[in-house]
Amino acid sequence: MVNMQKVAVIGCGFVGATSAFSLIQSGLFSEMVLIDANHEKAVGEAMDLSHGSAYSTPVKIYAGSYDDIVDAGLIVITAGANQKPNETRLDLVKKNVSIFKSIIPEIKERNCEGILLIVSNPVDILTYVTLKLSGFPANRVIGSGTVLDTARLKHVLGEHLQVDSRNIHAYVIGEHGDSELAVWSGAQVAGIHINHFCELRGHFQHQEAMNRLYQEVRDSAYHIIERKGATYYGVAVAVKRIAEAIVKNEHAVLPISSLMQGEFGLSDLCLSIPTVVGNKGVEMVVDIYLDNEEKQKLLESAHALKQVLESLDI
Ligand code: LAC
Repeated sequence: MVNMQKVAVIGCGFVGATSAFSLIQSGLFSEMVLIDANHEKAVGEAMDLSHGSAYSTPVKIYAGSYDDIVDAGLIVITAGANQKPNETRLDLVKKNVSIFKSIIPEIKERNCEGILLIVSNPVDILTYVTLKLSGFPANRVIGSGTVLDTARLKHVLGEHLQVDSRNIHAYVIGEHGDSELAVWSGAQVAGIHINHFCELRGHFQHQEAMNRLYQEVRDSAYHIIERKGATYYGVAVAVKRIAEAIVKNEHAVLPISSLMQGEFGLSDLCLSIPTVVGNKGVEMVVDIYLDNEEKQKLLESAHALKQVLESLDI
């Protein structure tokens, strides 16, 4: 029986530990099991995270094994190497696919019925690899995808327009990586197209601004990694947002990465498209409007991912 108030986090590095902290602060869970190849690291993280419970929400947090994840409603996988300066996410593929080939069978053999949330990079590739190796139904295997990139886009647009980023409606879709694209055709604030709202704020060089803001979002991780060595706070909040939609059965629209099954003419790969997310995971990939340029860029992003998938032995 699945316990939707129980979460497992596999991988206790920067992203895993920070995601665990973010999930605890969310109040969504009453139990959390941490798993890491270095069990003592997981024990240390569980101890440290537990010590704040007197001033936050009571969560039973412990380091465990794969036997402890069987009833977890949500299994978050952050294990694997992360980008080094000037390394792309796709550069991590061989190392992290190999790690997933050791992790996913452990989950599969325990017949877990929870939802898998893949965060490790390259997330779209690893979401697809998880689908293949686990045999789970497609709705129960989700990647964090461009949920973080979309938050970054909302942030930079909020700064540009001096508007609360929560009131910016815009998506980044495709690969969580260098081939991602911003859907400018559908970007709006208060129902006003983004270009018109820009003019209300005194900005008229739309193409220049869109190019600049898009590049800032796409390259964010590189700029952060070159300064502090890794990224983890932004993605940890993205993980919390996805977990919230699942545990609360929100039917929220989030650009998570999932298996394409004919949408936009794409199939047999995972990438991010705005998707209705609830307690069964993927409910519906939304057939959003894309202009011709955006359709072409999405196909190019899918092609970049397919080339990597074809190089893998899975
Ligand atoms: C980033 C990592 C999570 O974009 O890929 O910060």
